[in-house]
This record gives sequence, C-alpha cells and structure tokens, in this order.
Amino acid sequence: MASTITPAQLDYPRIRVAPPGPKAKAIIAKDKEFSSPSYIKEYPLVIAGGRGAMVEDVDGNRYIDWMAGIAVSSTGYQHPVVTKAVQEAAAKFLHICGTDFYYQGFSDLCEALAKSAPGGGKWRTFLSNSGTEAIEGAVKLARHHTKRAALVSFHSSFHGRSYAGMSLSSSKVKYRKGFGPMLPEIYHLPFHNPYRNTLDECTNAAKDLFETKLDPSDVAAVIMEPLQGEGGYVLPSEEFLQYWREFCTDNGILLVFDEVQSGAGRTGKMWACEHFGVAPDIFVTAKGIGAGMPIGAIVAKESVMTWPRGSHGSTYGGNPVACAAALATIGLIKDGLAANASKMGARLLAGLKKLQAKHECIGDVRGLGLFIGVELVKDPKTKEPAGELMAALEQLAFTKGLLLLGCGKSAIRVAPPLVLSAYDVDKGLEIFDACLTELAR
Ligand SMILES: Cc1ncc(COP(=O)(O)O)c(C=O)c1O
Repeated sequence: MASTITPAQLDYPRIRVAPPGPKAKAIIAKDKEFSSPSYIKEYPLVIAGGRGAMVEDVDGNRYIDWMAGIAVSSTGYQHPVVTKAVQEAAAKFLHICGTDFYYQGFSDLCEALAKSAPGGGKWRTFLSNSGTEAIEGAVKLARHHTKRAALVSFHSSFHGRSYAGMSLSSSKVKYRKGFGPMLPEIYHLPFHNPYRNTLDECTNAAKDLFETKLDPSDVAAVIMEPLQGEGGYVLPSEEFLQYWREFCTDNGILLVFDEVQSGAGRTGKMWACEHFGVAPDIFVTAKGIGAGMPIGAIVAKESVMTWPRGSHGSTYGGNPVACAAALATIGLIKDGLAANASKMGARLLAGLKKLQAKHECIGDVRGLGLFIGVELVKDPKTKEPAGELMAALEQLAFTKGLLLLGCGKSAIRVAPPLVLSAYDVDKGLEIFDACLTELAR
C-alpha cells in the first residue's frame, strides 16, 4: 500500500521565495558557525517537512524530491504506516541493547531480512546502525570465516566513511586524502561500466592482478555494489557479476554485495542482484530499508555467519524504533512499493531517454527501477565528463522546485522515494528539461 496522499491535494512544486529564504538563511548561518566544516551541504535546502515525494522547506517552498536524502526516504515523507510503527515502538521502550537481550522487533527483522535473501538456503542477520558499520562488520566476518586477509573492491566504489568502508572505496580521492594509512590488503579492480569500458578490460585487469600480485587463496572477499551508487549510478553487465560469482566460488572467496544504496526495493526487486540472477554469500543493507531511521544489516548464509558469541556486537544496532520502521518498510516494499518503483522507473527512464535525444549533454541514461543515472558529458563523442554542468543543473533545478543530487564525475543520480507518482515523474522531467535548455544558452 502506497501513501494515500495525492499530488492534487498538495500545491507543488512551488517557489514562494527564492531559496534560501529568510528562515533558511538564519539556520544556514548558525550551521556554518557551529557545524563541522567537513559537511558537504550540496545546496541551501533547509527542510521543514514533507508528504509523499514532496519536500517543504522552512520558507514554505515545495519541491519534488528526486533524491530521497541520498536514496534513504524510500517510503517518502510522513508515510502513515511507518510513522505509526515508529510512534508505537517509541511509546514502549527506546533501548535495551539487542546484542545482549531479546525483543520481538529485533528477532522479527532478523527473520524478515534472512528470509528475503536471494538464492535460497538458510541465512542469518546481524543488525547495525548504518551502512558503513555493516560493511565494517562484513569485512570482519569475511576475514574471520575464511581466515584470509585480502579484499578485492572496485574502481569508483563507495562503501562508507569508517576505515574499512573508506579503504574499500575509490569513488573520490577527497574521501581518503589525509586519512591514511588505509586498511591494508585491499586491491581495487575496474568495475564494468558499459558506457566507458568493456567486460574484457575488466576481466583482463583481474587476471593480471591474480597472476602478478595476489594469490586468490589469500582473498577473503570480493566486495561489490551490484549497481554502483556514489560512483555514478552505474549499471554493469550481467556477465560481470556472473564472472565474479564464478571466480569466488572457484577460489573459496566470499562474494559480498553492498546493497546499501541499490537495495530495499529501489530497483523494483528487493535486492538489485536479483535482476542479474547472481546471489552473494553475504550482503549488507542500510539506507532505504529503514525509510530514514538509522539501521543497517549484514545478512549472510548460515554456513558463513560462523563467528562465535561475543565476537561482534553493537550497542544500538537494531534499535527497537529503527526495527519497527524497517519492518513496516519491508511490508510496504512487498505490498506495492517495489512494483511502483518498476512502474515509475520505466516512465522516468523513458522520459529521460527522450531528453537525451534532445540534449547533447546527456551522454548516457541507465538504471533499474528508481535507481537511474544520467551522465552528463561535454561532447557525446569524446564522453568527457561535464562536472560543472552537473553542479549547475543541481543548483538550477533546486531554484525551480526539483531536488537532484549528483554522483560520480558528472552524473545525476535519480533516486526518489519509492512512492513517486506519475505526476512527480512528469513534472520533474519538465523541470529537468527546462534547466538543461536554460543551461545550454
Ligand atoms: C553503497 C554504499 N555503501 C555504504 C554506504 C555507507 O552508508 P552509511 O552512510 O549509512 O554509513 C553508502 C552511503 O552512501 C553507500 O552508498
């Protein structure tokens, strides 16, 4: 069941005062004075609330949300089912520590995630607070289980901000600069991006690594986003995932899928890897699975989750309120949100492809469901990334009532709430089109 609010009942997009308005400016001024300078703050959006896929700022401007707070607000804003679940859980108890004690929501969520695993068989779940904490735990689990140290990850990948997450990531150098030394024994290989490289280039680089530097029997895990998020919303070929599945199976290596951004119904299936018919040994989730409440999980085959009692834990991981939000979200994904992501994703993809035919600067449009990348280039022949255009598009769309977010060198990641309506698609496309026309002048 999707949110019952209809776009016709809400007046959006609407810009009442050029953002940032006066109330937004006051908050931004305070933030600039007291918050850490490491925060990015893409553009001066100061949110006050929202309904469905509409975001309202503190000055009463209303936007169509095509980014869901970085692919998190899967059920949109004020979803009645999620709100009720959170309120009811909060009214009972806020904490007990799931590592040390029991409660219903914790066990229910472990079961729901274990049973959602692709590929069949028995799986188990460890609950964390975030994506990076889940990745950190997955690395520990893979090393503990295999008794091996090396890890393989991919160019342009992003796995979070903690030391394992950061060391595995290679999407932007600023995420690593000044923070070394990184976790040792991590090797990066090319990810298949059909717009920019070939499958052969990727597999040849892998063969070279394993012939010259790294014996496969030293590798604990290959860690991959089945669809790359932060690195550019990249959709690899099925063969690429199958190559790595086979390689891992043949060499006793664990295949770990990072479904933090691509999972939880966003692509039209619960997990993105299901589109490729490739099942991992471990996967991690976070972001959209909690619809905005902080929760993540490591889900592993029972035969792999062999670490003993006390070897890993988390004070807040699987917090009761976050568990309630995740259980409600999983229910909604199964009851219609994944199907809506497929339907609206197809509409959005078709609309963006039409815009590609009109605007030379759109080099590539790719995606599954509501996980869509629009790569902007200076010239479609040279495919030179148009990073400034991406930044300008983000800013201009904001002033016209559409929330966008860039990724990679020059892509827009279209990752709206899964409650997106046809109105949100069509109106957003109009704004996207108008912005590109204006920027081309
Ligand atoms: C694929 C992927 N993995 C891990 C993370 C880290 O998640 P978190 O920010 O919840 O720690 C992210 C965050 O963007 C992500 O996109």
